[in-house]
Amino acid sequence: THRKAYRASILHSLADPAVVGQEASYQYFDDGILVVENGHITDIGEADEVLARHQNNLNVTEYHNKLITAGFIDTHIHYPQTGMIASYGEQLLDWLENYTFPEERRFKNPVYALKVARLFFDELARNGTTTALVFGTVHKSSVDVFFEEAEKRNLRMIAGKVLMDRNAPDYLTDTPESGYADSKALIEKWHKRGRLLYAVTPRFAPTSTDEQLAMVGRLLKEYPDVYLHTHLSENKKEIEWVLELFPERESYLDVYDHYGLLHQRAVFAHGIHLSDCECQRLAETDSAIAFCPTSNLFLGSGLFNLPKMEAFKIKVGMGTDVGAGTSFSLLQTMSEAYKIMQLQQKKLHPFKSLYLATLGGAHALSLDDKVGNLEVGKEADFVVLDLHATQLMRFRMEQTKTLEEKLFVLMSLGGEQAVYQTYIYGDLAYSANAEKTKQIAS
Ligand code: GUN
Ligand code: FE
Repeated sequence: THRKAYRASILHSLADPAVVGQEASYQYFDDGILVVENGHITDIGEADEVLARHQNNLNVTEYHNKLITAGFIDTHIHYPQTGMIASYGEQLLDWLENYTFPEERRFKNPVYALKVARLFFDELARNGTTTALVFGTVHKSSVDVFFEEAEKRNLRMIAGKVLMDRNAPDYLTDTPESGYADSKALIEKWHKRGRLLYAVTPRFAPTSTDEQLAMVGRLLKEYPDVYLHTHLSENKKEIEWVLELFPERESYLDVYDHYGLLHQRAVFAHGIHLSDCECQRLAETDSAIAFCPTSNLFLGSGLFNLPKMEAFKIKVGMGTDVGAGTSFSLLQTMSEAYKIMQLQQKKLHPFKSLYLATLGGAHALSLDDKVGNLEVGKEADFVVLDLHATQLMRFRMEQTKTLEEKLFVLMSLGGEQAVYQTYIYGDLAYSANAEKTKQIAS
């Protein structure tokens, strides 16, 4: 049989704590077993009960001082920016011009694109991220290469070709017609092929003409179940620029709204400086926001107002936004999210963080029937976290009493080093031990 079982502490999110309260938002088994068959979860529970249900007929992998949870979900990231992460000194618009565009130019070459895509997927795995919503570049082949590699790794990924027909260097622009044709071909080839899904991806309002945005609206009508992925209201100068470029529109969001881009599968990165009207429209249209703390701090963009999103009942997921973000780790990202709330005299409870990084992200991507937690029937994407990954974590863990304390310490001190193993569709995709062995050998 292909059945495999994993024994450790198991924690996963069941619902948004803002909706059901802290205690009803998660399920925890101190000594639990997770059973996986053919890429799906077929049982979960207290070890003795799961063993009894299977007449002790299970091939069990046992862990110590480990916590199993659902794979992390990154709702906004740029794979072509892997090679320019941590570029010094600029805020959004100059950062794009000086660092981002020159690096994205290199993706004209599919050999380079493949090299970066592989490195990117390796980084996701070592950070416990199993699903992501991903920007390509303007080059169609950047997305072909990305999906080919994702398919080899059995990943559930959403990605798309960037659309950009103005206010960018000539070497990085398409046209409304070529952008339409390329996107359509990519949708036909990749959307719903295995675990892959397509996102129509205008970079942001300033780099698309009215014609191109209208074309995006047309594509979404033709393919109602593809995603829309773009940036929104990240930086004050960006917002001013959008209002200058589209004087007839009421707000930044209204530009996208005008072309019919808001819908259940629309994901907007950032949304830092939104008016009540914009929040209202996001909620009405069931659109989602990707909260990208490390990016917002790194580019000095501003402080995201999570409680406001909760008040308006807007779907929110977490994004690393690499390469403006400075870490692939959702654990690290949650730690920075906590600090962003602190700067606003607000709290981010560890169970809310867990939700945002897993099930909340899945919900934002309308994938919560497939991934995001460890309920029976879900796809078996999960991580084994090491509560004793470092000397400091081990020492600090020994002082903690409650689960929420442990979870908070894990997020605050964890990061990449806390990821012990990552499983994708039931198969081991990354193991810290194997990595150490490789390093010693080389
Ligand atoms: N706005 C438009 N393009 C980008 C990008 O590549 N990164 C970020 N953070 N914001 C953007
Ligand atoms: Fe981004």
